[in-house]
Amino acid sequence: MCGIVGYIGNNVKENLIKGLEKLEYRGYDSAGMVISNNNEFIVEKAVGEVEKLKKKLNDKDYTGLGIAHTRWATHGEISINNCHPHFSSDGNVALVHNGIIENFENLKSYLEKNEKYFYGQTDSEVIAKMFDGELSLNKIKDVIDKLKGAYALAIISKKNDEIFFAKNKSPLYVAKGDDCFYVASDPSVFSERCQEFYSIEDGEYGCISVQGIEIYNKEGKINEKIAKEIDFDFTTSNKEQYNHFMLKEINESNKVLENIIAFYEKEEAFENLKSFDVKKYNRIYLVGCGTAYHAGLIGEKYFKERLNIDCFTRKASEFIYQNDIINENSLCIFISQSGETADTISALEYVKNFNATTLSLVNVTYSTLASKSDYVLNICAGQEKAVASTKAYLAQCLVLLILAKYFIKEDFLSVLKDFQFDYGNDDLIIPLAKHLHNHEKIFFIGRGFDYITALEASLKLKEISYIFSCAECSGELKHGSLALIDNGLPVIVIANDESCFAKTLNNAYEVKSRGGELILFSSIDIDKEIENNFKYIIPINKCKDDLMPIQTIISLQKLAYYVAVERNLNPDKPRNLAKSVTVE
Ligand code: AGP
Ligand code: GLU
Repeated sequence: MCGIVGYIGNNVKENLIKGLEKLEYRGYDSAGMVISNNNEFIVEKAVGEVEKLKKKLNDKDYTGLGIAHTRWATHGEISINNCHPHFSSDGNVALVHNGIIENFENLKSYLEKNEKYFYGQTDSEVIAKMFDGELSLNKIKDVIDKLKGAYALAIISKKNDEIFFAKNKSPLYVAKGDDCFYVASDPSVFSERCQEFYSIEDGEYGCISVQGIEIYNKEGKINEKIAKEIDFDFTTSNKEQYNHFMLKEINESNKVLENIIAFYEKEEAFENLKSFDVKKYNRIYLVGCGTAYHAGLIGEKYFKERLNIDCFTRKASEFIYQNDIINENSLCIFISQSGETADTISALEYVKNFNATTLSLVNVTYSTLASKSDYVLNICAGQEKAVASTKAYLAQCLVLLILAKYFIKEDFLSVLKDFQFDYGNDDLIIPLAKHLHNHEKIFFIGRGFDYITALEASLKLKEISYIFSCAECSGELKHGSLALIDNGLPVIVIANDESCFAKTLNNAYEVKSRGGELILFSSIDIDKEIENNFKYIIPINKCKDDLMPIQTIISLQKLAYYVAVERNLNPDKPRNLAKSVTVE
């Protein structure tokens, strides 16, 4: 999940740091860089965020070339030794790596037998130890032929004037500007200085130098690729008056709704779905990870209500092991904010083997997932910086609703046009957060749509507050999880569905009888007698059923946010996580 950047031009240090800052969403365990200057390497590394590396650097800058890395550790502890760049045994070659080398243990024992000494535990260092001396394209080809797994590599030596690169599965892009060259995990790194770029495909490798860009295919033949224009919106957002991106992004919910309406009311929005006939399919799979998976569950309900087609939501990381029936009559909808989630991309590649049709909902339209899909829909959420997905979830749900309606030719915008999300009542949510922040465990329960909201609310809370939390269908509690209910254990009951409210209440009372503390998030009017059972009640504004789960999640996203803040944690960068998960 790491981010890599290589740069040739003036002010190498400054440009590498700028690149790393753009890539930090890919991991922030450690950051490092190496600059090649007068046949020597200038190396700097720091554990933690890019800011820590920045603080270590002196003002002296260089013209020439360098590579840099921001890490999300997969192999080996978070330490300076494991921080990239990694070096060959003779110290002449340095590399940065994004991905996982699956056969690194075999390669390592072979290298150790050949007297290579390892200073760390990463799989990446093993690749570095496969080099020594000067670099060449032949040497790169020779090394990558021995690697199994995922890699985006940028490699330099003390003596070469080129940055070499290679890619398999992990994303990699190269670009030339007026007076600079780049190799990077994401085009946002060079979008301000380059007009066009090349997407490196799996198996390709090559080099950049002041002479230009050379790209070779798997067979070692030069690949004349067509450059893509940089016409995406790379505007990076800032926090404005907010302390954290997460709160800012929650408060952008209505802006996202506006963007979606503006985008989908244009005739060309569905241009690429013109020839699409949903009746051709007898099965729809909605596939995603984490929050995107929860959006899929919401979408499944929208689809089932409208289409006479079997719909199933699958976790991308499990999909390929489920032996589902997939064939040319299957429509597989992949949901991913980043479009770079390795599990989701693998699931897409898997269904292609069965000739299924692939449609992706992404926030990043130049992403790998988008480029590999038959059809693409933009969720129009704008850049989402906080690791915890908030506005993108809302956008995914809304675009799935639009799609479900589009499939049956139902008017899909009028309901949205008259609507504004309510941002919840902070005067009630903040005191609740203060009350919950010292608890060790929190449960969420709900039925139907509300159960999906419970799942998403629980994920949000655990990922940024580190409080153990889990979501359970209210009716399922008595089949096992009720055993966990203890004196004072907070159970958040999400209840918007009048048709099953009475049953959900019964389940809540079963919790209360065992000492659990009840908290209600609901749009249903209740009388005093019911009210007395709940320690806290957070009313949710009533709206159309389809929009109710989206309306409700906003208050629960805020609850997670305020709990994290109460615990003095940075909700934007939770420990152990990254915004874009490019390893399986
Ligand atoms: C959301 O809060 C999480 N950080 C995470 O579950 C995320 O939704 C998941 O990793 C999928 O990411 P994607 O949408 O970019 O594919
Ligand atoms: N496997 C490498 C490491 O642990 C790179 C990790 C990644 O790209 O996420 O350092």
